[in-house]
Amino acid sequence: MQRIYLDHNATTRPHPAVVEAMRGCLEDTWGNPSSQHGPGQDAKRALDLARSRVAALIGAEPEEIIFTSGGTEADNHALRLGATVQGGRRILTSVLEHAAVRDTCSALTAQGFETVVLPVGSEGLLDPALLEGALKEGAALLSIMRANNDLGTLQPVKAMAAMARFHGIPVHTDAVQAVGKIAVEVRDLGVDLLSLSAHKLYGPKGVGALFVRRGLHLGPFLTGGPQERRLRAGTENLPGIVGFGVACELAQSRLAARSLQTRHLRDRLERGILEGIPGTRLNGHPEMRVPNTLNISFEGLVAEDLLLNLDLAGIAVSLGAACQSESRKPSPVLLALGRSEAEASSSLRFSLGEANTEDEITRTLEVLKTSVARLRPRRLP
Ligand SMILES: Cc1ncc(COP(=O)(O)O)c(C=O)c1O
Repeated sequence: MQRIYLDHNATTRPHPAVVEAMRGCLEDTWGNPSSQHGPGQDAKRALDLARSRVAALIGAEPEEIIFTSGGTEADNHALRLGATVQGGRRILTSVLEHAAVRDTCSALTAQGFETVVLPVGSEGLLDPALLEGALKEGAALLSIMRANNDLGTLQPVKAMAAMARFHGIPVHTDAVQAVGKIAVEVRDLGVDLLSLSAHKLYGPKGVGALFVRRGLHLGPFLTGGPQERRLRAGTENLPGIVGFGVACELAQSRLAARSLQTRHLRDRLERGILEGIPGTRLNGHPEMRVPNTLNISFEGLVAEDLLLNLDLAGIAVSLGAACQSESRKPSPVLLALGRSEAEASSSLRFSLGEANTEDEITRTLEVLKTSVARLRPRRLP
């Protein structure tokens, strides 16, 4: 059976050049970058090269990149230490944030911080006027994601960061779902802290980075050795970092082509569903969106049934915001857009990648139509 992978927001298949570079690193560049001898210095050069490649992708200086174990750690570092840079106990964030931010805010609340969770409108956009009101009251940190993982909706982080700067409030953005899909430029955005993750951009899992703007005095997340400017102690995951560097270089050179190709296929899939299957509705903002993501409610269906039908046909999609896997409750993301629990539970996320083809979209539409027709009579009154 030919498998069709439409879940690139969950993870991407590492690019062959990434795999090759990681193998090379494991076989030949296995020294410790902190060692002063030849093998150590070879490893240090590989580390430096990867750092400059990651920095180049987001327009940062190499010294502003701290390698982490992934997006989750970058978010934890940004929030837990970012909120203490300047004093104050209030953290401003949005209702759409990934659990890495949301649950970290909850943990900080238990430690005496106050978290203000800003709502979004029906298309998933934050209201600048509400943000302005919240900023006026002062805050230790503003953390707003650039692209939402479930909807793909893009927040106007540049404008929000400018508002926060005016009030002297540091800004973090979780750009895990944006980097590699759209141009992300830290100076243009005007943020102080930015999280990214390798496995969302054809790199390996378990490695990511936190951009820390030069001049921001962030505390260490892990203490121990002097690695990562003493902000993140521990011998570096060099094979992962090397793979991440190659993935970033590829992302930079292929950004325009990837974006064009995935947008074209995503839009075809979207039209095919909305025009060809009755009772379907797009979730999130139709334009302010990364080019690869599509989130659709299928009225009268339980999304999980549809997902399993698609999986049986070899098509991998995700419940996305429809369900938080362990609790099986609709996630706050769709409820935050004002959707009912039933609507939220009927939503599927399709997230495309650079290897998807026209034929795959044609087949997905065929399978979707037959699956929805098969499932619906049992569900609708
Ligand atoms: C928006 C967002 N932030 C953070 C993460 C966590 O990244 P990682 O899997 O690298 O820990 C993810 C992963 O799904 C994500 O989508």
